[in-house]
Amino acid sequence: MLEFKEVTFQYEGADHPLIENLSFSIEKGSFTSIIGASGSGKTTIFRLLNGLEHIRSGEILLEGENISGMKNFCSYMPQNDLLLPWSTVEKNVCLPMRVQGVKKPEQKQIAAHMLDLVGLGDCADKYPRELSGGMRQRVAFARTLCAGSDLLLLDEPFSALDYLTRISLQEWLLDQWMKLNKTILFITHDVEEALFLSKEIYVVADRPVRRMERYQVPMDYPRTREMLIRSDIQELKEELIRKMREGDERIRKVRGPRLPRKG
Ligand SMILES: Nc1ncnc2c1ncn2[C@@H]1O[C@H](COP(=O)(O)OP(=O)(O)O)[C@@H](O)[C@H]1O
Ligand SMILES: [Mg+2]
Repeated sequence: MLEFKEVTFQYEGADHPLIENLSFSIEKGSFTSIIGASGSGKTTIFRLLNGLEHIRSGEILLEGENISGMKNFCSYMPQNDLLLPWSTVEKNVCLPMRVQGVKKPEQKQIAAHMLDLVGLGDCADKYPRELSGGMRQRVAFARTLCAGSDLLLLDEPFSALDYLTRISLQEWLLDQWMKLNKTILFITHDVEEALFLSKEIYVVADRPVRRMERYQVPMDYPRTREMLIRSDIQELKEELIRKMREGDERIRKVRGPRLPRKG
């Protein structure tokens, strides 16, 4: 469905490309995670997809067509819910449809449907501050769905939540994915989260990013957390951690010592 073909990208003002001749692809309907140390370039891959940054060379193809000039083919959900505090849940969810010029009654109808879907049908008139962190992320997810794209880009959507909320939302997200028939590309630095959710995992572990190591997760859906204690999954987890560490060391050689940073 989505293909990066020899993509090179460099931030303005940077001395070197961050991404160099990178190729990878993801299948339609799949759940794929990209993992890697902080600062490895994961979010940048999303910024290239949602048009916030532009590649220098190469191609990004969706169903075989170049994405430049394409609109609304993906919707992005960031780490922080970014809900507008002065707007109700319903208005927040309607935002992408307002931007797209969808008519008001239709907006309301779709928003109600999406809120029902995420289990928040009775929260339409509430304000974000009245909801828990987990509920806010579900609202943000409903808003992401309202953009109507088949490709969802989720950038560490659960990393700011407490552990129990996070694992409940992971189970919830898998459930949604199985129902919705969407393609999900998920960024995380949490290896266990990536294992629990994904069919395939790509690891970003070099600088510049020239290739991403690809791993298949050998577990069927639906999944339960108990599956994670299987010995083959534990071995895969250790292998992934080893790869991420190697990547982190390479990045620090280029960037100097690790400084605390977000995202
Ligand atoms: N707007 C920007 N301008 C210049 N450099 C950036 C910008 N955004 C990110 N970077 C740099 O690109 C690298 C990758 O960042 P990012 O894609 O955010 O990593 P990750 O999401 O894996 O933590 C980092 O070294 C970061 O400092
Ligand atoms: Mg990031």
